[in-house]
Amino acid sequence: MCSHCNGDRIWSNSEISLLQAVCDQLAIAIDHAQLYTQSRSATLAAETQAEKLTETLHKLQQTQSQLIQNEKISSLGQLVAGVAHEINNPVNFIHGNLTYANEYFQEMLTLLHLYQQYYPNSQAEIQAFAEKIDLGFITDDLSKLLSSMNMGTNRICEIVLGLRSFSCHDEADKKLVDIHEGIENTLLILHHRWKNNGIGLDISIVKEYGNLPLVDCYPGQLNQVFMNVLTNAIDALEESMVNLKTTEKPQIIIRTEILDSKFVVIRIADNGLGIEEDVRKRLFNDPFFTTKSVGKGTGLGLSISYQIVVEKHG
Ligand SMILES: Nc1ncnc2c1ncn2[C@@H]1O[C@H](COP(=O)(O)OP(=O)(O)OP(=O)(O)O)[C@@H](O)[C@H]1O
Ligand SMILES: [Mg+2]
Repeated sequence: MCSHCNGDRIWSNSEISLLQAVCDQLAIAIDHAQLYTQSRSATLAAETQAEKLTETLHKLQQTQSQLIQNEKISSLGQLVAGVAHEINNPVNFIHGNLTYANEYFQEMLTLLHLYQQYYPNSQAEIQAFAEKIDLGFITDDLSKLLSSMNMGTNRICEIVLGLRSFSCHDEADKKLVDIHEGIENTLLILHHRWKNNGIGLDISIVKEYGNLPLVDCYPGQLNQVFMNVLTNAIDALEESMVNLKTTEKPQIIIRTEILDSKFVVIRIADNGLGIEEDVRKRLFNDPFFTTKSVGKGTGLGLSISYQIVVEKHG
């Protein structure tokens, strides 16, 4: 009816009001369509923004976890370095002087023997005192005592050296390092937890080290990874011993090898309970995921380790 106008036409009132109504409807429909498009694009924008927000939140959480862990490690490192430094000096006094003590003792012993040789019949008081103190025994025992003291201070010196190299490695630079040294130092720091010494678990550490070249990496961060993975293994063994009273001897196997002459493979395995499939999916990407009780685990260990190995070291 609207288009029926190929000649002069007289519009009736009813036709005009009908046209008016059609126009109104059309205008409303166009308006709706416009609103609809607008709301569609608004929704789309909101969705992308929400996605971005989620992503940012995830990144923030990761950064936060990294910051916490870094702080923890760096204050631990400082503490360890400080303690190692403080112990180093006094131990060196003892260790350094033991050699002289032994030398002097041997000389005095020679002197004593000379006296005994040239004055075999000494005064009764001297003989009585020699008997009282059991001269034969103490001269014999003092040598043994000095050599075991020497062994002890040697061990302390080794530990101090290990602690210092573990903590001083916190340098920012990449450099060529001996991976095995890092593992050994980490084991040394965790010594009290795996060794059979009353508190430790008596875990046997089986080392199957391959022939690795020096590797270009961030040594302090790599130690952090070893620390996290080994602590997890010890925790797992502790749990399986406490909860299940397994008779199997707890064991951690550390194996290193070269793969395709361009990768270094480091495997650390424990014979604890293992990890459930659904837990396994969340280990690396879900910071703060933990099955441990509050205060025991933060859930950061493996997600940090993942970042260090995958992102930092490629
Ligand atoms: N060797 C393992 N055996 C069994 N479960 C493990 C082992 N390693 C990790 N898990 C599981 O993975 C979870 C996450 O480990 P992750 O190291 O990230 O955090 P955490 O050990 O709980 O806490 P944190 O390391 O921060 O103290 C652990 O809570 C544990 O359930
Ligand atoms: Mg852990």
